[in-house]
Amino acid sequence: MTIIKQLGTPLSPTAIKVMLLGSGELGKEVIISLQRLGVEVIAVDRYKNAPGHQVAHRSHVIDMTDGAALAKLIELEQPDLVVPEIEAIATEMLVALEKAGKVSVIPTARAAWLTMNREGIRRLAAETLALPTSPYRFADSLTELELACAEIGFPCIIKPVMSSSGKGQSKIDRADEVEAAWNYAASGGRVNAGRVIVEGFIDFDYEITQLTVRAMGKNGEVETHFCEPIGHLQVQGDYVESWQPQTMHSTALARAREIAKKVTDNLGGLGLFGVELFVKNDMVWFSEVSPRPHDTGMVTLSSQYQNEFELHAKAILGLPVDVTLHTPAASAVIYGQHDHVAIAFEGVAEALQTPGVDIRLFGKPESFSRRRMGVALARAKDTDTARQLAKEAAAKVKPVIVTE
Ligand SMILES: Nc1ncnc2c1ncn2[C@@H]1O[C@H](COP(=O)(O)OP(=O)(O)OP(=O)(O)O)[C@@H](O)[C@H]1O
Ligand SMILES: [Mg+2]
Repeated sequence: MTIIKQLGTPLSPTAIKVMLLGSGELGKEVIISLQRLGVEVIAVDRYKNAPGHQVAHRSHVIDMTDGAALAKLIELEQPDLVVPEIEAIATEMLVALEKAGKVSVIPTARAAWLTMNREGIRRLAAETLALPTSPYRFADSLTELELACAEIGFPCIIKPVMSSSGKGQSKIDRADEVEAAWNYAASGGRVNAGRVIVEGFIDFDYEITQLTVRAMGKNGEVETHFCEPIGHLQVQGDYVESWQPQTMHSTALARAREIAKKVTDNLGGLGLFGVELFVKNDMVWFSEVSPRPHDTGMVTLSSQYQNEFELHAKAILGLPVDVTLHTPAASAVIYGQHDHVAIAFEGVAEALQTPGVDIRLFGKPESFSRRRMGVALARAKDTDTARQLAKEAAAKVKPVIVTE
């Protein structure tokens, strides 16, 4: 674990250099937070003019799943810290480089490696740490999957081991749906096409993201901080709305934090984690964890004094953090609605007319109908009101195609 001793001046010999691997909307906000502390930032993504590229000191376009290309870029830039913002990167190379003392990965290369594959993190959580999870099996063929589904029972959820945002994921109720789910999973997986996890369906009351921060304390020891729980709504495995705080029974909250502590202690390092949990009455199940800011945590742009991006930036630099909630708030996703480059947005002024509402547009060069292009945020006296305001604001923002 690299401890940054002092901050410097960007673009000078004293600069602290941070390289973001992935420069989407979450990376963009982390970069802005780092910029505010005079950190020199290098933004990397697989396509030109990604949101984070637009606010960094330098940017690069590479295939981040290509280990050799990644190693070459790290050698060229010599960053003090490498910060993965997405899962789809050559994490084995990061593990090797970290082992050789050539790079310091946030929170650790092992955490990035374990969490990019559902199998790694699930086996760690359920088998090593004995945390409650849904029942699960892995399968490499349709025949294995049929057997696995029969063992787990129905309904169940089938997911490629390497995928995110619900890609290739399906919930099935009967044995005759297994084949379609297998084919769908093969289409949505990133790499290692073919391996899937089947999970028993948890009939939860609600699900939360427990943002958990590992930051340096006064005595030079890592301290764990918990944000207020974030409630969220997922459609087809993708987040559409989130709010903070999610009201929870004190027993469930204590269990959620105990699980979050165990898993983040094991992953180690410094930084913010998004621990995803399912809750039913007092029961809590671990689902998965991102060793980085979480999309549902965008609500903290309005709800916390220090949002999740700022918390991540501060924690990785070895600085203290403040996770205090400021006010109840909510976020609602603004989708592209069109498959087109360089779209425009109408209705932003109208949305902002409502007190407590804010809008972020990510500046993505190309829109797809289901691509997240922005987010509406709303502060209010309670989360129900905030959710209503955020949804109304998101609906007022209209992505349009401009024709000359
Ligand atoms: N075993 C399960 N039981 C019930 N619901 C589930 C289960 N697994 C997943 N889900 C639902 O599907 C959503 C997405 O699942 P998961 O987080 O595993 O996928 P993901 O592709 O990594 O999504 P993201 O990248 O958006 O976090 C969950 O937030 C939850 O709403
Ligand atoms: Mg998830």
